[in-house]
Amino acid sequence: MDRVKLWPYTPLMYILAIETSADDTAAAVVTIDAQGYGQILGQAVYTQAAEHAKYGGIVPEIASRAHQLHLKRLVGEALQQAQLKLESLDAIAATTGPGLTTALAMGASFAKTLALVLGKPFLATNHLEGHALSPLLAPDQTLAQAFLGRHEAYVLLLVTGGHTQLILVRGVGDYALLGTTADDAVGECFDKTGALLRLAHPAGPKMETLAQGGNPQALVLPQPRTANVLDFSFSGLKTAVRQAVESGVYAPTDVAASLQHTVAMVLATKLGLALQQTGAKHAVVAGGVAANATIRAALQQVCATAGASFTAPPLALCTDNAAMIAYAAALRQLKGLPDGGGLAAPLHPRWPLQGLGNYS
Ligand code: KG4
Ligand code: ZN
Repeated sequence: MDRVKLWPYTPLMYILAIETSADDTAAAVVTIDAQGYGQILGQAVYTQAAEHAKYGGIVPEIASRAHQLHLKRLVGEALQQAQLKLESLDAIAATTGPGLTTALAMGASFAKTLALVLGKPFLATNHLEGHALSPLLAPDQTLAQAFLGRHEAYVLLLVTGGHTQLILVRGVGDYALLGTTADDAVGECFDKTGALLRLAHPAGPKMETLAQGGNPQALVLPQPRTANVLDFSFSGLKTAVRQAVESGVYAPTDVAASLQHTVAMVLATKLGLALQQTGAKHAVVAGGVAANATIRAALQQVCATAGASFTAPPLALCTDNAAMIAYAAALRQLKGLPDGGGLAAPLHPRWPLQGLGNYS
């Protein structure tokens, strides 16, 4: 990925990271300077989506076998792009949670072995912290300058197949969870309603395509209420879509368009409330669902109304990748935060963002 070169830019550390928490196998080399600005020097991803598609979800055994098969090649590609040798690296990082244990184990063991043989530090890294800090790597440096230069906080809307969270990022290692989902994640909502319309997994992108010809007002879907206004709930939407599909009254394009419209409204409304509650001047979206143009437009609009900047990083940074892991690990090193246990670091299938100032 091309990045705008900051000038003068003096690299402080070179970090190789491996990400294998779910069904994407990824390696990346990132550098960071003394101010915390990062640059991606090389990255390679193998997406396993096709291997899992016929099972309607991620099969852990297939995921870990594919990680094992592709890791060596991807690490080689990332290093080659970066024009670096293993010996020139300052540290090796890997995602150690949250995620599928058997999948995490592949990447973490590979990275720990490299670190051990090379005599370099191993940096155990939280996947969600990677997502939270990834927008700072975007070519548009507005957010990085506000956060790294002026210590301004931002609200992150994280929308993946497994997470739907609103997080206030106050500093590196300093995160406050503002809201989360009571049931399904938003990506899961697209995937499950898409399955009702007989779309293959992951159905999110196909739902967006299907929605293009549809009427977003055709079907009035419920906007669920939650006790905390910043929490989410998507299971009611799934039920309403099931009933609509079973009724046979609505065209699939109209169902897809109505669902997409409702989800976009829910996400935008809650992001607007989060900006209001926190007084933050910046908002970012990350995660695979951020690829959806209707959702991005709704978020952009609500931020403009709130007078906040809006950053939607390039897709390769939004979806699972290793650059965000390398960068989070590097920023934590720069700030002197704990390294998560070094070579003895455990895996954390569940690992919330709060309390990451003192990794345990
Ligand atoms: O972040 P991600 O790549 O992987 C993780 O879940 O960690 O997110 C994948 C999710 C899937 O549920 C997929 O259906 C959804 O993001 N997704 C979309 C779109 N592209 C991907 N949902 C709606 N519209 C899209 N264009
Ligand atoms: Zn993710």
